[in-house]
Amino acid sequence: MASVLAVAGLEKRYRRVQALAGVDLAVEPGQLVGLLGPNGAGKSTLVKIACGLVRPTRGRAEVAGAPAGSVAARQALGYLAELFRFPGWMTADEVLALHQRLAHSPGGTAERGELLELVGLPEARRTRVAAMSKGMQQRLGIAQAMVGKPQLLLLDEPTSALDPAGRRVVRELLEELRRRGTSVLLNSHLLSEVELVCDHVVIVDHGRVVAAGAPADLRREGGVEVETAVGVRKFPDARRADVPRLVRELVAAGEDVFGVRVVTSTLEEAYLEVVE
Ligand SMILES: Nc1ncnc2c1ncn2[C@@H]1O[C@H](COP(=O)(O)OP(=O)(O)O)[C@@H](O)[C@H]1O
Ligand SMILES: [Mg+2]
Repeated sequence: MASVLAVAGLEKRYRRVQALAGVDLAVEPGQLVGLLGPNGAGKSTLVKIACGLVRPTRGRAEVAGAPAGSVAARQALGYLAELFRFPGWMTADEVLALHQRLAHSPGGTAERGELLELVGLPEARRTRVAAMSKGMQQRLGIAQAMVGKPQLLLLDEPTSALDPAGRRVVRELLEELRRRGTSVLLNSHLLSEVELVCDHVVIVDHGRVVAAGAPADLRREGGVEVETAVGVRKFPDARRADVPRLVRELVAAGEDVFGVRVVTSTLEEAYLEVVE
């Protein structure tokens, strides 16, 4: 099956700034991909190109097999911008109704109710945006992106204004989207979030992909520690696969082994390693 988002050799230059310097990236059907990187790495630029809001200088971006920016591509995606603002006088229901009109969604009241439920705002139907916290607005923004059941969701820092409880709602929501087979590209600087939900992580820095893979593959193993009668012995170059041999050798040498720990680094450590 074709990728839902396919980006190849993508470059973007804003006058003197090279925001993207040749990025290849794919989001497969049903995949949840985390796009990580420091501020200014080019994450938002990539997402805006996928939406057709920014024109690439060079390279190719396709959504559901159609060139980014075309009507077919735009129909296949939902987008939550990093910085967005809904009119303060609109209620949550009115915001969603407006986006149903814009997206030609036939979902009606039922879709609006279901989306508010899904983002944990079932009571906010008649609440005006002006009376909502930033976190509530961000959840409404996610609901807005889901109007019309797009194949691909592009979420640019969707949890930046959320407290831990709100982030958890979003995490559960992302898991629900995975169950439904919706593909998601999630820009985030919250590494632990990405680690918990994403199938695949792409780390960008200075407009280039510096690492990519499953979160578990990006974590570096950091050696083996063996607890013996004389204290903890460290084998910094050893890996999990070396444990049986290490233990055999220690026992053969007359040591008592009380415990073994394979030290794995977090995705955050792996991230700092490639970005710094
Ligand atoms: N419209 C623009 N005009 C000029 N420079 C821009 C514009 N948008 C982004 N940039 C620059 O491009 C680089 C990448 O920005 P951005 O894609 O927003 O990164 P990120 O989302 O990873 O923080 C930054 O150096 C930023 O200042
Ligand atoms: Mg950004």
